[in-house]
Amino acid sequence: MTTSELQHLSHQELAALRSQSLDRYHRFQAQDLDLDMTRGKPGPDQLDLANPLLEVVSAEDFNAADGTDCRNYGGLDGLPEAKTLFADFMGVRTEEILIGGNASLNLMYDSFMRAMVFGVGDGQPPWSQQGALKFLCPAPGYDRHFAICEQLDIEMITVAMGPEGPDMDQVETLAASDEAIKGIWCVPKYSNPGGIVYSDRVIQRLAAMQVAAADFRIFWDNAYAYHHLTDTVPEQTCILAACKAAGNPDRVYMYGSTSKISFAGAGVAVMAASKANIEWTRKQIFFQTIGPDKLNQLRHVRFFGNIAGIQAHMKRHQALLAPKFAAVQAILRRELGGTGVATWSDPKGGYFVSIDTPAGCARKVVRMAAEAGVKLTGAGATFPYGKDPRDCNIRIAPSLPPVEEIEQAMELVAVCIKIAAIDLLLDR
Ligand SMILES: Cc1ncc(COP(=O)(O)O)c(C=O)c1O
Repeated sequence: MTTSELQHLSHQELAALRSQSLDRYHRFQAQDLDLDMTRGKPGPDQLDLANPLLEVVSAEDFNAADGTDCRNYGGLDGLPEAKTLFADFMGVRTEEILIGGNASLNLMYDSFMRAMVFGVGDGQPPWSQQGALKFLCPAPGYDRHFAICEQLDIEMITVAMGPEGPDMDQVETLAASDEAIKGIWCVPKYSNPGGIVYSDRVIQRLAAMQVAAADFRIFWDNAYAYHHLTDTVPEQTCILAACKAAGNPDRVYMYGSTSKISFAGAGVAVMAASKANIEWTRKQIFFQTIGPDKLNQLRHVRFFGNIAGIQAHMKRHQALLAPKFAAVQAILRRELGGTGVATWSDPKGGYFVSIDTPAGCARKVVRMAAEAGVKLTGAGATFPYGKDPRDCNIRIAPSLPPVEEIEQAMELVAVCIKIAAIDLLLDR
């Protein structure tokens, strides 16, 4: 049977397509698959690309350019050469960067906790002493951002995502009207999971909007800034520059890391912000650590050399990842194209594909896929409190499995979506 819009099929045709799809599903079940598409982990071939990094610092050669012995304590906010490299990486000046440890999520969490316990350094009381707090959460979004708010009992307000970023009419209205709203989570380039690139218009509006809370902060998680899947690299206004131009230099905290550039969990994480914000943060970090891992910073500086080195390295990642994302698109088009029962993103970068099924189907699809041996990110995970109000969003993470496994997994996902959608139609 051809896949014309399912809603136009007769009851009989739908029943036939359901039975055909169910046969396919049972054949998948019989294969004893064990595939994992849950998290955006780099594949082993991507990690291999950075293996020489493990050898650029040796027992004979561990000093930084200024002679600093990187084996010893010190350097609270980073080696000078690491600051130079990562300032370019984040598009800021060296006094606007702070080099952290191995994970940007750790830096974000710490920024949040500092704001809760000590405030943001502008004379306002700590967030935790200001009563019930709220945070703007563009969704679908990154589950771990939402988890931080949930852990800290900060009420999450879901903001719709559009093709250019968060719905700015909604963001502006909310931020201007309620001083309990302390900030917003943003993944501005190749958002997780939609692959959306914020437009300059959205960035300007975020930088310039009226906010009721004097200590409002944009958490700008640029995790995928260099993770392009095509040769067309989108230019994007620097939010820190936009905030400065709008007279709000301290509004944004920016984060990045080499987790999906060198080694995930063993890379270098960075925070960028206004000089005042960085100085405040450095003063607080003094109580937390004697300094981050300088040997790892040195490895990264030596291996990549400069920003062009990072960009060249990411072309090699692109060569490995693009066929995987192409495989997802090809199967979804083949299986669901024209059926009218799913839409999906075709990202130009990042680590995810976002699928929207008919309302009320995502949980069922994820459960059916798991029962046939394909693990997907839990339905709802891309929304605050793990609750997708329409139960329609599914996040696909194709970076880790090989192409053949992705094809199998996506075919199964598509079959599950078809069955769930047909069941809805038959129930009508
Ligand atoms: C949007 C986003 N931010 C941050 C991270 C984690 O980064 P890191 O390893 O630097 O903590 C991820 C990982 O999936 C992510 O998707």
